[in-house]
Amino acid sequence: MTGEGAKPLLQGVRVLVTGGAQGLGLAIATCMARHGAVVALMDRNRVLVEESASNLPGDGHIGLAGDVTSPEQREQAVSEAFRRLGRLDTLVNNAGIQLHAPAEQITQEQWDRVMSVNLTAVLMMSQLVARRWIDSGSPGSIINIGSLNAAFGMPRRGIYGTSKTAVVGLTRSLAVDWARHRIRVNVICPGYHRTPLYEEYRAKGAIDENRILARIPMRRIGEPGDIGKASVFLSSDLSQYVTGQVLFIDGGYSIYGAAEDAPS
Ligand SMILES: NC(=O)c1ccc[n+]([C@@H]2O[C@H](COP(=O)([O-])OP(=O)(O)OC[C@H]3O[C@@H](n4cnc5c(N)ncnc54)[C@H](O)[C@@H]3O)[C@@H](O)[C@H]2O)c1
Repeated sequence: MTGEGAKPLLQGVRVLVTGGAQGLGLAIATCMARHGAVVALMDRNRVLVEESASNLPGDGHIGLAGDVTSPEQREQAVSEAFRRLGRLDTLVNNAGIQLHAPAEQITQEQWDRVMSVNLTAVLMMSQLVARRWIDSGSPGSIINIGSLNAAFGMPRRGIYGTSKTAVVGLTRSLAVDWARHRIRVNVICPGYHRTPLYEEYRAKGAIDENRILARIPMRRIGEPGDIGKASVFLSSDLSQYVTGQVLFIDGGYSIYGAAEDAPS
């Protein structure tokens, strides 16, 4: 909220969050709902998406089962979100998958699978929503979820890192093309955040938390709510002159350049 007695920042705002059943997507949706937004969650996990939507704070939220890589399911989810919520003001392209493989072993199937979720679907979902905004003359805000990996090469992350770097490029292109329609497009690049995806990689030994903490000047792993708060800003009028921007939320990871551990 903006202060005691003040209007909630996102009062009346309608939001669609892809990959919203858990993790960062759910945290973004929860934070936006707390600030007054009505949210549609879209996720390929049909059971969890309903449950997560029904647990969001406030009323009117909906869960939509759908895979962002399917043209039919994308169209159906976007149509249903506009119909059931009355309109949309913000789209959060959050759905994403990871895959670790040494560059010399990446297969085309792996490449296509990750790119279709992390990159192609971002353009296609954005088009579906933006065309409606352009036709109706009522603009909105698109928030893409990139990654710290968009700033660096990381071992065995060739597909993922490329997909997220491309999301940054796509964000800038969409921002330029659609600025005249007053559609804003920005990208949040999260550092390490404690989500089911993060915990899965930590359990597999693919993430060494102590080494990561040593590299983060703020000395903590991000909480999903940290991304939620930035999404509230990028969805609200507080950011009405902000477009095409890349916001790293990583406790300072991406600005730390020394070879030794960050100072405690
Ligand atoms: N967790 C982190 O530390 C971190 C860091 C940087 C970037 N990210 C990015 O944040 C986003 C969310 O990550 P997370 O950690 O919450 O992941 P997560 O795996 O915990 O949740 C992702 C959600 O997306 C859904 N999803 C996946 N593919 C889908 C598809 N094709 N269609 C519809 N829904 C789909 C999953 O069912 C799941 O509910 C991703 O884009 C990820 O790359 C996460």
